[in-house]
Amino acid sequence: MKQPPSSASPLSIAIDGPSASGKSSLSRAVARSLGWVHADTGSLYRAVAYALDQGNMSHAKESELCDYLLKREIRYAVLEGSTHVLLDGEDVTDRLRREETGREASRVSQIPCVRERLYKVQREIGCRGKVVMDGRDIGTVILPEATLKIFLVADPRVRAERRYLELLQKGVKTNPEEVLADITQRDENDRTRSLAPLIQAPDALVLDNSEMTIEESVQWILRKLPH
Ligand code: DC
Repeated sequence: MKQPPSSASPLSIAIDGPSASGKSSLSRAVARSLGWVHADTGSLYRAVAYALDQGNMSHAKESELCDYLLKREIRYAVLEGSTHVLLDGEDVTDRLRREETGREASRVSQIPCVRERLYKVQREIGCRGKVVMDGRDIGTVILPEATLKIFLVADPRVRAERRYLELLQKGVKTNPEEVLADITQRDENDRTRSLAPLIQAPDALVLDNSEMTIEESVQWILRKLPH
């Protein structure tokens, strides 16, 4: 599946990292400052979890679940520089942010047919170029030829605090300890799965943004982008 690196590859930035490391906000800000598209790949896995839940197929046998997914159309649409997910033609992006959906996305992302299916959707947008793509395996599997690869990390307590405040803003009742436990569990799942685990690509630059603002992180990345 991997593509050989090529100097003629379309321009792209791959940003990988664990849950709540700030990937999406940072990727969106980098894309905006370059006038590129931001592709949020986690939303595709969340859409799969959402589709399976809709069809009561979340815990079906793998072969049945894979057959079911073939009947659902999942694709990206680009609106104002960001990807939205269309499920059977309907924009479901705003329905995918719940913690439960994230947990289910992490679970179903370990199923081979799910990753294969979403590989194509991600490659397609990555190959268009001028894209900042964030996820877990972008620099290793989806865009191994990316112009710049960033592995974004932040202290788990800082990540938990950020996620907690984000949930609070959305009116979701929870507490910091619960959020930290959820993040730790999700990190463990994403890092230890056999298929496309969250690992740093050998040529990725590590950015620890625990004590940086988004703007500082954007500038850090822009300075690393080859001219
Ligand atoms: O980034 P996120 O929290 O929206 O992603 C939800 C889950 O989807 C994440 O826990 C693992 C899975 N995922 C993945 O396996 N590969 C990606 N490129 C993006 C997300």
